[in-house]
Amino acid sequence: MTISKTVEYPVEGAGLGLRRSMMGEEMPTGAVDFLEVAPENWINVGGRYGRWFREYTERYPFVIHGLSLSIGSPAPLDLELVKSVKGFIREHGIRCYSEHLSYCSDHGHLYDLLPIPFTEEAVAYVAGRIRQVQDVLEQRIAMENVSYYAAPAREMSELEFLNAVLAEADCDLLLDVNNIYVNSINHRYDAGEFLRGLPADRIRYAHVAGHFNEADDLKVDTHGAPVIDPVWQLLQEAYAHFGVFPTLLERDFNIPPLPELVREVGHIRQLQEQAATVSRPSGSAKEPAPEVARVHAYR
Ligand SMILES: [Fe+2]
Repeated sequence: MTISKTVEYPVEGAGLGLRRSMMGEEMPTGAVDFLEVAPENWINVGGRYGRWFREYTERYPFVIHGLSLSIGSPAPLDLELVKSVKGFIREHGIRCYSEHLSYCSDHGHLYDLLPIPFTEEAVAYVAGRIRQVQDVLEQRIAMENVSYYAAPAREMSELEFLNAVLAEADCDLLLDVNNIYVNSINHRYDAGEFLRGLPADRIRYAHVAGHFNEADDLKVDTHGAPVIDPVWQLLQEAYAHFGVFPTLLERDFNIPPLPELVREVGHIRQLQEQAATVSRPSGSAKEPAPEVARVHAYR
């Protein structure tokens, strides 16, 4: 018997990555549905920044997107960081914790997100570390598909690797639509096919962002420009395939005045409203199979 169950997302609607540079600008009422920060930037922050942050967490649903868990690193997991994040989640009522499926340290920070080899060995290694983090947190985490510019020791495709990690770690997915687009150009694969190969029931929320156009066949994921049309189109494809899910605009460099970002967030909402009015195909995120319906309960 097939049991139909609606996937519950941690937040709803269209969100924005909140940055310190936005302090002093007033967020227009109703402009965003949820906000995201990097916990590393806010743990133990007091004073006027701390008060500003608290004002936001009291007004908006929040998710956090970590920077330094370094899940693929050969170095031991930073369990002190994980415990701090756990406290932060509890303190601010954070709805979801996501991290990058990459690594940024090797007994010291490397200040970049490096690709994990797409191998069986790496799947087992990373999945074990994700499970360890989830055990400490006592909740699931969402891993983000990252952009990468080299694929060392590749034994499987990016999609196979990502799906294997999600399955073996029993964790969720932060779907970065811009990263799929950038990788599809840089590594020459079909972005739509990649998208449709992802497990609907694992998506917790999504990112969109702008990137730098180095050349026709080389895009660099900078979060430093407006989202381009092909990425919006890919997001529409994702909504058509999976149903509408919460989606957030990331902007880390060349940050424009808030009204400009709010306009882009408004475009996310527009696409969500459009997608919600058209019928959803069977097998979408709203109708997971029985075994996937229970994956959101942390074991
Ligand atoms: Fe992202």
